Amino acid sequence: MDHSDRSLIERLEQLYRTRGQRLHVDDGPAGRVTALEHALQCAQLAEWADADESLVAAAFLHDVGHLLHEDPTAGQEDEHHALRALQFLRPGFGPAVTEPIRLHVAAKRYLCARDGAYLLSLTPASRHALLLQGGVMTDDEAHAFEKRPHAVAAIQLRRWDDLARTPGQRTPPLGHYLRLLALLLAREPSGTRPDWHLLDAA
Ligand SMILES: [Fe+2]
Repeated sequence: MDHSDRSLIERLEQLYRTRGQRLHVDDGPAGRVTALEHALQCAQLAEWADADESLVAAAFLHDVGHLLHEDPTAGQEDEHHALRALQFLRPGFGPAVTEPIRLHVAAKRYLCARDGAYLLSLTPASRHALLLQGGVMTDDEAHAFEKRPHAVAAIQLRRWDDLARTPGQRTPPLGHYLRLLALLLAREPSGTRPDWHLLDAA
C-alpha cells in the first residue's frame, strides 16, 4: 500500500468517524439509522451472504458519496452520490468495488421492473427518489442492465442496502472494514490500476 492509498484510508476513516453520525438518507423500506450504522450493516449483510471481499467493500462504501457532500441535508434527491463516490474511490479501488457502487441506483430501477413485491415495498420517499433516478426500467432497459458487468453484484448490493436500516443492530466495528479496505488496496498496486478515463470512453 503506497502513500496515496494510506491517505485514502485515512480520509475514509475521517469521513465515517465524523459525518457517519449523520442520519442515513431514507431511501428504503426499513427504519432510521446513522450513515455509519447503515454502512456497517450493509457490509455485514454482504459478509453473511459470503460475498467476496470486493463486494463487502462495495457494500460498506456504497453511500460514501453522501458523506462527501458538505451539506448533510442534501437528501435522497441527491442522485449524483454514486458518481461522487466513484471519483473519490477510483484512484484506489478497481471495478469489482466501484462498479456495483456505480450501478446500485440503477439496480433499484431494475428491481422495480422485475419484482413487483420490491416495488410495493418502497417507502413514499423511496418512490419519490425513484422518479428522480429515472423511474422503473422498461423491459429493454432491464435486458440491457442484466448484460452489464457487475450487474448481479449491484442487485445484491441494492437488496442489502434496503435491509441495512435496523436501529440497534450489532455489527463489527468500523476498524474491521477499514482493515479490509487496506487489504484490497495493498493487493492492487497503484501502478497496475486501469486508466478509468479510457474505460469510461469505451
Ligand atoms: Fe445505502
